[in-house]
Amino acid sequence: LRARAMEAVRQAETEQELSETRVAYLGKKGELTQFLRQMGQLAPKERPAVGKLVNSIRRELEEAVSRKEKELKEQALAEQLARESVDVTLPGRTFDQGSIHPLSSIVEQIEDIFIGMGFQVADGPLVEWDYYNFEAMNMPKNHPARDMQDTFYITEDILMRTHTSPVQARTMESRKGKPVKVICPGFAFRRDDDDATHSHQFSQTEGLVIDKNIAMSDLKGTLTEFAHRMYGEDRRVRFRASYFPFVEPGAEMDVSCANCGGDGCHVCKKTGWIEILGAGMVHPRVLEMSGYDPEKYTGFAFGMGIERVAMLKYGVDDIRYYFNNDLRFLRQFVSL
Ligand code: PHE
Repeated sequence: LRARAMEAVRQAETEQELSETRVAYLGKKGELTQFLRQMGQLAPKERPAVGKLVNSIRRELEEAVSRKEKELKEQALAEQLARESVDVTLPGRTFDQGSIHPLSSIVEQIEDIFIGMGFQVADGPLVEWDYYNFEAMNMPKNHPARDMQDTFYITEDILMRTHTSPVQARTMESRKGKPVKVICPGFAFRRDDDDATHSHQFSQTEGLVIDKNIAMSDLKGTLTEFAHRMYGEDRRVRFRASYFPFVEPGAEMDVSCANCGGDGCHVCKKTGWIEILGAGMVHPRVLEMSGYDPEKYTGFAFGMGIERVAMLKYGVDDIRYYFNNDLRFLRQFVSL
């Protein structure tokens, strides 16, 4: 019995088999246990000697089982480690990394610059009432300036906003005559044929400041500071008189061309300057229509094309790159 039991322990190949062997010999109904039970049938004289022998076999067997158990555990662990080992010389798995779209990045930069100057960021709907897009911006029905912005109409009174200026009127209405200092970035839409510099959907950001004693010098200071922070301190700016129905006087701001330093090249069409935004002092009628007393309050507003700002910053010469989602283009901005 002893030899048979020891052999069974030796041959057990798994912990399961070992445990079955232990039960077969040492368990409650195991062979060795049965043997001890039958001791009563022996002559009293023989009992001590037989008992001693059986117990020593029992101890021996228990030791063998626990030794084997340890062995099997180590073996299993070694196998597991071998199975799960990592070959550090294999090439890594590559996966595509997403990145911030260059236009989103420019919007963030513009927001950072203006928030740093105390502006808040406001928002408005893309599908807009004719009233906010045109009338409240001092362009009544049949006003010739409406032709400057060829419009997608949805109904007679509802349209896709042609600029972010309607957010001016909405913000003024909601502030109910209190001072305003906001920028309003977002999409705008015009019925243009798409080409290198036109897109029927594009982005602008509007800016609007209204308070007591706001003057043209505030406009110039704010926008000059913006140009320096966006393009660098070495860039020069100039303001030219211009016309927008919702401002008086109106202006456009140019920055000096980075490509030629202002001497004239193909980028700036030999002028040395690149136009980046429209601006002006808020027209008294615009203030009045949205609930401000033009005798007490003045303000300035500006609007810039975000794609244009981005094109100048990154040296992109075709606006369509921003909308085609060509990964070869977008991957160049992964580090933004
Ligand atoms: N809304 C004008 C445009 O789209 C830009 C502008 C905004 C000009 C505010 C002056 C003041 O062309």
